[in-house]
Amino acid sequence: MTAVWTPVALSRDLPCLGVMPVCVDGMDVALWRSASGRLAAWSDRCPHRGMRLSHGFVRGEALSCIYHGWSYSSQGNCLRIPAHPDLVPPEAIRVPVYYAVEVGGVVWIAPHAIDALPPTFEGVALRSLTVEAGVDWSVAGFSVSGLVARGLLAGVAVTIMIQFLPAGRMALHVLADATASPIALTKASRALEALRRQAEGIVA
Ligand code: FES
Repeated sequence: MTAVWTPVALSRDLPCLGVMPVCVDGMDVALWRSASGRLAAWSDRCPHRGMRLSHGFVRGEALSCIYHGWSYSSQGNCLRIPAHPDLVPPEAIRVPVYYAVEVGGVVWIAPHAIDALPPTFEGVALRSLTVEAGVDWSVAGFSVSGLVARGLLAGVAVTIMIQFLPAGRMALHVLADATASPIALTKASRALEALRRQAEGIVA
């Protein structure tokens, strides 16, 4: 299941009207959330002239390209072309869509429809963080199963969803024990930073 679904963000980091670039299987994806909270994930390339849609802006239930303002519904079909306001855009003008779901505060994307949802894990959102290298989980004292690592950061139990990125990089989306105090969570966040520095070979 986790080999098909890719974790790409913590739900907390994508508010309504927000749009962000993510990477799935080496493909650039625009992830966005409408005013009503609807989630959508598209190929990050406008069908008009190829501008990144993750540079666009969300109004209501549509995402508009920053370049010439073509707007698209959450299903990916073109709704409006400002230069031709009386034209009903042809159905063929459409952005390729991915499947996006959020479970347990984590956003997952799949390239096609999958019956089984991604796994749900307990915990509160700690943070997402990009590592410019691979992490040696055994040295860090974590156990790994598929795309999920479990262990302790500064004594706080955490579950880390691993997103593999091009060039050996990875993004980590971290849930922490919901009973941990704010101070303990701050320490866990710092320990995550230390883990990143260690993986990247940075001497503190
Ligand atoms: S490139 Fe997107 S509207 Fe022109």
